[in-house]
Amino acid sequence: MSYNLLKGKKGIIFGALDANSIAWKTAERVHEEGGEFVLTNAPIAMRMGQINELAEKTGSQIIPADATSLEDLQNLVEQSMEILGGKIDFVLHSIGMSVNVRKGKAYTDQNYDWTQKGTDVSAMSFHKVMQTLYKNDAMNEWGSIVALTYMAAQRVFPDYNDMADNKAYLESIARSFGYFFGKDKKVRVNTISQSPTPTTAGQGVKGFDGFIAYADKMSPLGNATAMDCANYTVSLFSDLTKRVTLQNLYNDGGFSNMGVSNEVMEPFMKE
Ligand SMILES: NC(=O)c1ccc[n+]([C@@H]2O[C@H](COP(=O)([O-])OP(=O)(O)OC[C@H]3O[C@@H](n4cnc5c(N)ncnc54)[C@H](O)[C@@H]3O)[C@@H](O)[C@H]2O)c1
Repeated sequence: MSYNLLKGKKGIIFGALDANSIAWKTAERVHEEGGEFVLTNAPIAMRMGQINELAEKTGSQIIPADATSLEDLQNLVEQSMEILGGKIDFVLHSIGMSVNVRKGKAYTDQNYDWTQKGTDVSAMSFHKVMQTLYKNDAMNEWGSIVALTYMAAQRVFPDYNDMADNKAYLESIARSFGYFFGKDKKVRVNTISQSPTPTTAGQGVKGFDGFIAYADKMSPLGNATAMDCANYTVSLFSDLTKRVTLQNLYNDGGFSNMGVSNEVMEPFMKE
């Protein structure tokens, strides 16, 4: 259902790789709500991905940008304002990658070059995106910036590896930069902490099937889907959430406040 919540709003959406991507679903929902946007992803991901299909469906243009490159980001922001005909109202940072996870390196046996690469891509890129927008005065007042995160930033999930530290850093950047963006430009900055979701990045985590089934059984409302995340993001881009900022917002079916659920306890019961 469409409510026209984003009519007249313009934005940039990072991270749509394929139809499973949270950013893909978000782009579809933003389009349905009347928002216009530029799609962007790392040049290498575009060669692998199906982003053209999404661009066609949503009437969007694609500008490749490696989110760790200030030069690419500057070009992205300049070109986006040109294409969209003005300043930006919303930005989705939906980017994550750990080389240690990809290559099966344990948390206790890090290759620090890879750790650094993962931090740059998954967390520092968020600072770089915001700094580029800020310096170019590219955001409209009452604009909204959202990044996606996971609860391993607060609690231990052993196989989430160095991504846990990257997410803690990402959430901190949202608060720290959110202060300046709020004070100086009236722009809000939040992170959404999403349930485990079957996407390319999600499935890279060891034991993901067990992980997702466990979270589902623990959560009174079950796991939040990629579509649930897209809908929540639309609400944060809309004018209905104007003074929500510096928050880490859980979209997880209640998981983060659970101790244990009856379903999870069942195998341990004597009778
Ligand atoms: N899937 C989950 O279980 C889950 C749970 C909570 C949070 N998240 C977060 O959601 C976000 C989106 O991930 P997803 O699950 O949709 O997976 P995905 O694999 O579809 O998306 C990750 C995206 O990051 C992009 N990317 C990687 N390196 C980049 C770079 N240098 N520059 C620009 N883009 C780059 C990839 O090309 C890809 O499009 C990530 O931040 C992820 O950590 C995912």
